[in-house]
Formats: sequence, structure tokens, C-alpha cells
Amino acid sequence: MRKPIIAGNWKMHKTIQEAKDFAEKLSTEKLNPEVEAVICSPYTAIKELVNKLNNTSIGIGAQNFHYEDKGAFTGEISASMLLEIGTKYVIIGHSERRQYFGETDETVNLKTKKALDTGLVPIVCVGESLEQRENDETKSVIKVQVEKALKEIPKDHITKVVIAYEPIWAIGTGKTATAEQANEVCRFIRETLTEIFGKESSEKIRIQYGGSVKPSNIKEIMAQSDIDGALIGGAALVAEDFVQLINY
Ligand code: PGA
Repeated sequence: MRKPIIAGNWKMHKTIQEAKDFAEKLSTEKLNPEVEAVICSPYTAIKELVNKLNNTSIGIGAQNFHYEDKGAFTGEISASMLLEIGTKYVIIGHSERRQYFGETDETVNLKTKKALDTGLVPIVCVGESLEQRENDETKSVIKVQVEKALKEIPKDHITKVVIAYEPIWAIGTGKTATAEQANEVCRFIRETLTEIFGKESSEKIRIQYGGSVKPSNIKEIMAQSDIDGALIGGAALVAEDFVQLINY
């Protein structure tokens, strides 16, 4: 059985004080222990969240990092810097980073390998644009993204990777893929993983859906055969909603 993983992606939201308020609200709530819950916050709030939530089941993640250990990379953060403050997860290749910050399948691959080498859990994002979906290219686009992201990853590491399928047209738009549409692509991702890593491994890899997930639609999404979690932006910013999402 794959353990469900519900992750919030705060993007560029919340100061340390706001994160603290959020964590305080969360720490009084009863959370489903069967669900792995994650908050991926801005770098600045990570330490505060780790300290405040260390006696809960919630793990803290970053939204990006650099694949080099150290060096002249102005503005970047390394895996060891993240690990030092208690970070456990990292989102890699979110479509906003691909679109606005030049992230490519190659850098996604380098980051995924570095995350695995250092012990961070990579949440690797893939997803097609509206144009690609309309041109019936969804599967071919996703296949290439998955193959390139996971190139040369050793079989004994692969089951630690979490894949997030996030159709770009569904992110922040209020337009959710139907649960069936989402599951169809997640199933296709698993088939692709089976081709590369074999069935035993692919059955263990968790695949999230992301794109306008909210308390009112999470149940249906999580009921799908190949969806093992959700990566949530907007709705994960409100503590009450995030609790509902974890306790779907
Ligand atoms: P959304 O964002 O839930 O606000 O659509 C999802 C994401 O970008 O990870």
C-alpha cells in the first residue's frame, strides 16, 4: 500500500510571522496519522515551521534548491543548507519554475539526483500545457518529462521519489482536471515508471495530482486508483482548509 501524501505548496506566500500563526492553528488540530502531510514553504519560514510542528506528523519542504554542493551561485540554496534546518522534502521542476526561472528537464534531473543523494525527498513535478492537451500531446509530453527527470536514478532510490502530475492549465485557475482525467495521466505515469524501473518499484512510487485541489474535490481525487496524494497551492494557505485536505 502506498501511503497518501498531501503537500501544500505555499509558493511566495507567508512571512515568518504568518507561518507561525498557521503552525499554531495546525498544532491544535487532530490530523489523520495515515496521511503523510507536508508544507513546502518559502526558505525563510522553514526553520520556524520545523520548530513549531516538530511534535506533529507534518514534515517541512522547500520549493527549490541548487544541485551543486556549494560555490559561486548567487541567490541559491544547497541541499545541506536545507537539511541543516530540518527540511525533509523539496519540490523540483514546478511548472512556475520551468516557465519563469529557466528550469529544464536536465536541471530537474540533476536536482532529483542530488535530493536523493542527500536524503531530501524529491517531489518532481510534470505537466502539460493547455495547448499540448488540445493537440493531444499530453502523454508524449509527460513521458519525456518523466524519463528525463528520472534518468540514471538507481533502482534502489527510485521508490523514494514522489511524482506530482500538475496540468499547467489547472494550476491556480480553479479549473480542476476531472478525477478521471487526472487518474488517466497518473496511470500513464505509472506505466512509464514500470517500463523504466519494473513493476515492483513502480507500484511503490507515489504519484500526486495537483491543480486547483480543494476540500470539496479532494475525496474524489484521492479515490482514484493511481493517485496517491495531492500537491496543493491556494487551498493549502488557509489552515482550516489544509486540515480538511489532510483529513480528507
Ligand atoms: P493550485 O496550485 O492548487 O493553487 O492550483 C497547485 C500548484 O501549483 O502546486
